[in-house]
Amino acid sequence: LPSIEQVDVTGKKILLRVDFNVPLDKTTGAISDDTRIVKSLPSIELMLSRGAALVIISHLGRPEKKGDPALSLKPIAERLGKLLPATSVHFSPEAVGPVAEEKAAKLQRGEILVLENIRYYDEETAKDEKVRNDFAKKLCKLADIYVNDAFGAAHRAHASIYECAKLLPGYAGLLLKKEIDILEKLVTNPPRPFVAIIGGSKVSSKLAVLENLITKADSILIGGAMAYTFLKSRLIEVGTSMIEKDYLSQAFQIIDKAAYNKRELLLPEDHIVSSEFGEKGKIKTVKRSIPDGFMGMDIGPKTADHYAKVIKGAKTVLWNGPMGVFEMKKFASGTLSIAKAMAKVKGTTIVGGGDSIFALSQSGLEDKITHVSTGGGATLEYLEGKKLPGVEALMK
Ligand code: 3PG
Repeated sequence: LPSIEQVDVTGKKILLRVDFNVPLDKTTGAISDDTRIVKSLPSIELMLSRGAALVIISHLGRPEKKGDPALSLKPIAERLGKLLPATSVHFSPEAVGPVAEEKAAKLQRGEILVLENIRYYDEETAKDEKVRNDFAKKLCKLADIYVNDAFGAAHRAHASIYECAKLLPGYAGLLLKKEIDILEKLVTNPPRPFVAIIGGSKVSSKLAVLENLITKADSILIGGAMAYTFLKSRLIEVGTSMIEKDYLSQAFQIIDKAAYNKRELLLPEDHIVSSEFGEKGKIKTVKRSIPDGFMGMDIGPKTADHYAKVIKGAKTVLWNGPMGVFEMKKFASGTLSIAKAMAKVKGTTIVGGGDSIFALSQSGLEDKITHVSTGGGATLEYLEGKKLPGVEALMK
């Protein structure tokens, strides 16, 4: 992967694609977590210190109507300015056209121009390649070199991710490179034992990842509501737990394939269940099968202990997806126990996916994890064995 470290950027204008698609508070609209902005700072600081000027592109959310003010990048540009107090951070309310061109032309060495939300333009995500390409040409007019540091969006073949990389000399930023290096090692040559913990509510969204991991990881630990679909596929009663009926046979097959590949696939042996979805129902701990009228809300203490023991012996651990409804205190202990067990591991620990990252940040153990990925969908697609368009375009 061609990296920005290899190129002389002095006096150059850089078109820098980042993923500043940060979570916003539902009521106030304020940035609720700026991790993605903070993680892009090493690339930004490197290029600025080498005398470049940066024109920054990002998307924010999925605006349904053009120019939805709730999804403007202006507050994000302001946050970037606060994180870089010695740098002038300008903002352009237009991403292409005369206003953007004039602002980019005026940009001095060491300065930043943040463009408005690139998804205000339908051309960015257009199906028609020519439409995307024409749009990318307008963006590329603003700079001399293209840098992609948007790992979180690298799975999207959009104009500012895919087409721009082909129009200007294109390089990977430090974050993109780091994320890819770590994930590549994970799937090609992980120090063993390699333990993968996969949770979350839907088997359907994790099937492809599981298909790949049962050929690579030594142990796969399953938690979250998806565990109930797996258990049900083996005719174990799951009460009123959430299951995906259409995926029972695929879940059944994953268990078989794991066994065939001689990989250990563990399902919860006990659960914390509730008579209703919420903390107000009747709550108890039950063994593997869940009685009528109760739904699984978290893995039980025996499972948590067992999983912690397996994690303890690992040299590589990957975690994606919570073990239960961790947003509710009474059902958070299973997820927390995973974070705690990972924090003690001496080897490489990697956490990916929005929910598990949020759970990890609540546990306060982030510093004890080797790598917290900025990717949600991108991390999953990489682990499914798919090629990421953003990365492919840079290699061409
Ligand atoms: C993400 O948050 O996963 C990325 O920013 C990509 O966003 P998208 O799913 O809206 O393309």
